[in-house]
Amino acid sequence: MNRYVLGNFAPVTEEITAFDLPVTGKIPDDLDGRYLRIGPNPLGLEDASAHIWTLGEGMVHGVRLRDGRAEWYRNRWVRSASVADRLGEPRRGQVADERLDFAPNVQVAGHGGRLYALIEGGLAPYELTDELDTVGPAALGATEQGFSANAHSKYDHATGELHSLAFRYGADFVQHIVIGPDGRNRSVTDIKAPTLPYMHDFALTEHYVVFYESPMVFMPERLATGVPFGWNRELPSRLGLLPRAGGTVRWFETAPVMVGHTLNAFDDDGTVVVDVVVHPRPIDFADVGASKPVLERWTVDLAADRATRSLLHDRPQDFPRLNGRFGGKPYRYGYSAAAELYATPSATEPDRPDEGFSSALLKHDLLTGVTEAHEFGRDASAGETVFVPSARAAAEDDGYNLVYVHDRDRGAADLVILASQDFTGEPLARVHLPARVPLGLHGSWIPAA
Ligand SMILES: [Fe+2]
Repeated sequence: MNRYVLGNFAPVTEEITAFDLPVTGKIPDDLDGRYLRIGPNPLGLEDASAHIWTLGEGMVHGVRLRDGRAEWYRNRWVRSASVADRLGEPRRGQVADERLDFAPNVQVAGHGGRLYALIEGGLAPYELTDELDTVGPAALGATEQGFSANAHSKYDHATGELHSLAFRYGADFVQHIVIGPDGRNRSVTDIKAPTLPYMHDFALTEHYVVFYESPMVFMPERLATGVPFGWNRELPSRLGLLPRAGGTVRWFETAPVMVGHTLNAFDDDGTVVVDVVVHPRPIDFADVGASKPVLERWTVDLAADRATRSLLHDRPQDFPRLNGRFGGKPYRYGYSAAAELYATPSATEPDRPDEGFSSALLKHDLLTGVTEAHEFGRDASAGETVFVPSARAAAEDDGYNLVYVHDRDRGAADLVILASQDFTGEPLARVHLPARVPLGLHGSWIPAA
């Protein structure tokens, strides 16, 4: 059976709006904003056994926190043209190319006071309202060559700009797009990519744009499967550095592994340090948890012209995050979600389906090398956490970790709020949602304006 239709991977079928959610504990008064998490949630499953998880239409689950209260929970499909048609609703806006229209399912990002659902590969972003309704397709990062802002666009706190590393299915180049606070492109730089690599994420330091090329490349012959990527054993992996001030890309060859997500990167005395989640085995889009990703530090020595790898933590994990104010700078703390599949039924419950995934959040102290784990237990489905600084923000880890966790007894999700400086302690609050939040992709915190 396809595990991505079972347990807490199973899609939900209803859109819900609930107000004044019940809370155990106390929501910190200084949390003023929305925790949003998007993921694939197929609108109907014609053939469940053949379903590919990443190809489900995007659904956003959001909770609004203010004045120590959880004001509302909403979950909404992104209304692409096809989703609007199938729900029997009028289309929102005009999509430029219907062949490239899909309900984004990877990430939600705020920029310039607007909210966007993002995907990749040249598929258009969609703009959302504060209450998660769809405005319509958005031109965020759109370029003449048909690229647009990809998921994993990165906000530069120093300039207020949004940087995107965008690829487009089949194009033999990628684009580094810098978007101003007004939402307009400030610069577009083409980077040759003749192997047609799948570039899901990148990194930004004070001086460099860092990107990862792996043997995971576009294979047009696989287009009909919906996942036109495969692993070409002939290719190396490379790390590229594009100077932000302009210039040519410097490439550094590495072992043939795939970098999934960036934790952070920074410039350090003649080196560029890049902390990343590395998949030792090729990602299988039909079984995304199987690649056992780990956290590594890659150090690029600019004078020696060489990149070296070291293991930071070997527990399978993904969705790395940090205090965003330290993005691109030297930093100490990283957070991630354990990414473990329980391949066998538990000893006490042999008839339970193979549904356990992501039972813990991790806090890495990169100065001491100590990792703490907040264990939520089997079936927790703890997804991507976000770190939100407290209003005091005295130290880098002075703040909160927010995450949706499945409550198996209720059959619904809680929004769990941890004090980051008491990471393994009792949560400060559990906000009880009225519905299940299926395992999904990325989480975001959108502070109130
Ligand atoms: Fe991602």
